[in-house]
Amino acid sequence: MIRLSDSRFPIADSRSYRLAVLASGRGSNLQALLDAAPDSGYVIAGVFSDRANAQALDRARTAGVPALALDPKAHATREDFDAALFDSIDAAAPDLVVCAGYLRILTHAAVARFEGRIINIHPSLLPKFPGLRTHARALADGETEHGASVHYVIPALDAGPIIAQARVPVLPGDTPATLSERVLAREHPLLVACVHWLAAGRLLQNGSAVLLDSRPLAAPLLLGADDQLHESAEAISP
Ligand code: GRF
Repeated sequence: MIRLSDSRFPIADSRSYRLAVLASGRGSNLQALLDAAPDSGYVIAGVFSDRANAQALDRARTAGVPALALDPKAHATREDFDAALFDSIDAAAPDLVVCAGYLRILTHAAVARFEGRIINIHPSLLPKFPGLRTHARALADGETEHGASVHYVIPALDAGPIIAQARVPVLPGDTPATLSERVLAREHPLLVACVHWLAAGRLLQNGSAVLLDSRPLAAPLLLGADDQLHESAEAISP
């Protein structure tokens, strides 16, 4: 693979699997990735945001990771902004781009630049509840189970091949806030487990399919209570 890195994003170890993380806000998923990096076979090469005041940028800098904010208003079009953003991302020479709470919809051209190497974490059991306000919508629909998904990014919103999911129960008296907290607690190990297997070369996107160890997955992987990914519900039941 050609490395386009520049001096802002030093490559300490050319064998490391490198992540670029996109985040717009709090950055708790980024923090989970930062915390797990030493044991999970990847390094975070850069963190990128559309908001200069994103807490995610502070988390990156505290961890000694290069952090960069680009202002969408400084660019005439969405295409111009994404082109500038992904030029910066390219400079970090990532093997994988991780959207972790990034609130802008990526342009088709941006997605095409990293086809098969860009993932997103979404707080619902996709294909249920793509888009926003997922927890409130799950409650309004009377769901008894909710959760989070990690999927490959394609141009259509929240519609790419699903790699893995974490399920949580919806409990009596839940509000969007309590449900969101329960889901978020499982998002962190879910994202770490997916990136760990991506870094190990075990997962690949093949069109609309996800390959695990070169075999197509019949269904998304499931996060078990052991925080590991499993191929079937039976494997994670107590
Ligand atoms: C998470 O719920 C993630 O699934 C969604 O946005 C939220 C980001 O949270 N895409 P954080 O910024 O990682 O704390």
